[in-house]
Amino acid sequence: MKGIILAGGSGTRLYPMTYAGNKHLMPLFNKPMIYYSLSVLMLSKIKEVLIISTPEALPAYEKLFGNGDQLGINISYAGQAEPKGLAEAFIIGEEFIGDDSVCLILGDNIVYGSGLTGILEKSYENIENNGGAIVFGQYVNDPHRYGVLEFDKNKKVTKVIEKPENPPSNYAVIGLYYYDNDVINISKSIKPSGRGELEITDVNNVYLDKNKLDVELFPRGIAWFDAGTHESFLDASNYIHAIEKRMSLMVGCIEEIAYKNKWISKKQLLKLAKPLLKTEYGKYLERISNE
Ligand code: TTP
Repeated sequence: MKGIILAGGSGTRLYPMTYAGNKHLMPLFNKPMIYYSLSVLMLSKIKEVLIISTPEALPAYEKLFGNGDQLGINISYAGQAEPKGLAEAFIIGEEFIGDDSVCLILGDNIVYGSGLTGILEKSYENIENNGGAIVFGQYVNDPHRYGVLEFDKNKKVTKVIEKPENPPSNYAVIGLYYYDNDVINISKSIKPSGRGELEITDVNNVYLDKNKLDVELFPRGIAWFDAGTHESFLDASNYIHAIEKRMSLMVGCIEEIAYKNKWISKKQLLKLAKPLLKTEYGKYLERISNE
């Protein structure tokens, strides 16, 4: 399975923060936002990652991660000239995906909590073994901002509706999606919506119509944020700060995940820690190398 992080877009809801810089490079507490989405792919045990961003922002991501060697993974890059929709990721990434299945995560989504790794690993296995698609629903107070799940009286999902004025439920589809290889052709077959975007919701409805969409509701122990507005950005930062301080562990620490997945050695981890030793981040890496 391949992994794609979608980190383009225009970030208009974060203006003026994003006038001059790409949203996913901004810090959520102590690390760039994109660390959190990359960490979710790494927890899924995905080692081949494509980062899609605006052509102007790509050099900064290349500077940040290089080819991924230092994390024991492979990172490549592609540009999206205009934010033409989430489903365009599979068209831009067609060659990268090849014959594989794929997990897409939005670069401004933060998912964290008890049992997450198990859910991610299970989703990976399910798609590899059975195909189809898996998406995740979460109860939210502002469903009109998202793709929203419509249920029948037996609690079966009947439709996903993009940013509805009158949401049929409070369950939003979060920005983490697993698909088999059909997603490439499906994305090519859908037409841009009224707002001119290739909608991931349309892709999900194609899977649903074929009875191949598995919708899982996140258990209570898992928190999900999208850091796309000023307030949700601050909420995510505060949450990460609180967890890290209280639990003495790090959220979205890609070096730690690489080490615990045995993709890098203790020596490699300490090399990554070295330039960070003036920070709690570096000291944390040093600490876990001794555990
Ligand atoms: P959105 O929140 O839909 O859009 P945005 O980030 O451009 O922000 P705004 O609404 O404030 O203008 O995007 C969700 C995520 O997907 C975000 O991480 C950016 C990314 N994205 C792309 O990379 N390409 C796209 O074509 C779109 C629509 C989004």
